[in-house]
Amino acid sequence: MIIFSGTSNEPLAQNIANELQISLGKREIARFSDGEIRPWIQESVRDKTVFVVQSFSQPLSEYIMECILIADAIKRGAPKRMVGVIPYFGYARQDKQHRIGEPVSARVIAKLLEVVPFHEIITMDLHNDAIVGFFRIPVVHLTALTLIANYLQSKQLEHVCIVSPDVGGVKRARNLALMLNVPIVVMEKKRNLNNTDESETYQIIGDVEGKHAVIIDDIISTGGTIVHSVDSLLKAGVSKVTVCATHGILSGEAKYNLSHAPIEEVIITDTINHPELLDDNKFRILPVASVFAESIRTITQTA
Ligand code: R5P
Repeated sequence: MIIFSGTSNEPLAQNIANELQISLGKREIARFSDGEIRPWIQESVRDKTVFVVQSFSQPLSEYIMECILIADAIKRGAPKRMVGVIPYFGYARQDKQHRIGEPVSARVIAKLLEVVPFHEIITMDLHNDAIVGFFRIPVVHLTALTLIANYLQSKQLEHVCIVSPDVGGVKRARNLALMLNVPIVVMEKKRNLNNTDESETYQIIGDVEGKHAVIIDDIISTGGTIVHSVDSLLKAGVSKVTVCATHGILSGEAKYNLSHAPIEEVIITDTINHPELLDDNKFRILPVASVFAESIRTITQTA
C-alpha cells in the first residue's frame, strides 16, 4: 500500500499514514508560472494499492484538478488499484438541478473521478447520501457522527436536544439523537436561490424551551445557516447552543461571525485543514484520521 497526499490537507494525510504506520509516498507538486499544476510521483507504484488523499476544499477547482492529475501520474506507473480518499467532497450541495438551466455538478465530479480512473472512493458525510449512486465505482461513505457523539458525551451536557437546521438534515440529526438518547428538533429552512449563500429559517418543529440545543449539520460554509438558526432557537427559549458539523469550510466571515455568536462551542472535524483554529477556544477540531485509516486497512486486506 502507498498513500500520496495532494496539497489541500497534508496534515490529515500524514495523520492517516501515521495511524497506518507508513510514510507518505514521495511526490512533488509544482506550478508553471501560468498556474498549470505539474505533479511528479517520485516512487514506484507498480502493482501496489495506491491511495490519493485530497479534500475538495477551497480553492475547490484547483484541488479537484490537482487530484485528477496526481491520479493520472500514478495510473501511468501501473498500480494494482487506485483509491481516491476525499475527506470533504465539494460540489455535493449541487446534487440536483435546483433550477432549469443548472448543472448537476456533484454528478460531474463523480464522473471525472471515474474517468481518471479511480477504482474506489472513500469519503465522509456527503451532503446527500444519494451522491453515492452518482458513481459506478464503489464508494465507502464514512461518517464522523460517532466521533461527534463521543465528544458530546464526554462533555456531559444536560437537557440536550439535537437540532437539524433544515429538513434535509433530519436523518443525520436523528442518528446523532439516537446515539445520545435525546430528543430531536427540526428547523425548516428555505434557501434563497438568487443568492446561494443566504438562507432564512422559518419554523421550529419540536420542544426547545429551556433546552441545550446541539445543532448538527454536514457543512458550515458562510455560517449563515448556523447564525440564523442560533438566533431563532434563542428566540424560541433555548438556554444554550452548541454547534457541530463534519466539514468546516468556514468561507468569508464565517470564523468571525461564529466566534461572535452566542454559541458555547463549534465542533468540526479536520476533513478541511484549519491550523489557525487549533488554539481557538471557541472551536473544537475532532481528528478523523483513525476512521479513514480503518477503512484503508479494510480495503488493503481484501484487495
Ligand atoms: C445545506 O443544505 C447544508 O446542509 C448546510 O446547512 C449549508 O451548506 C451551510 O451553508 P452556510 O454555512 O453558508 O449557511
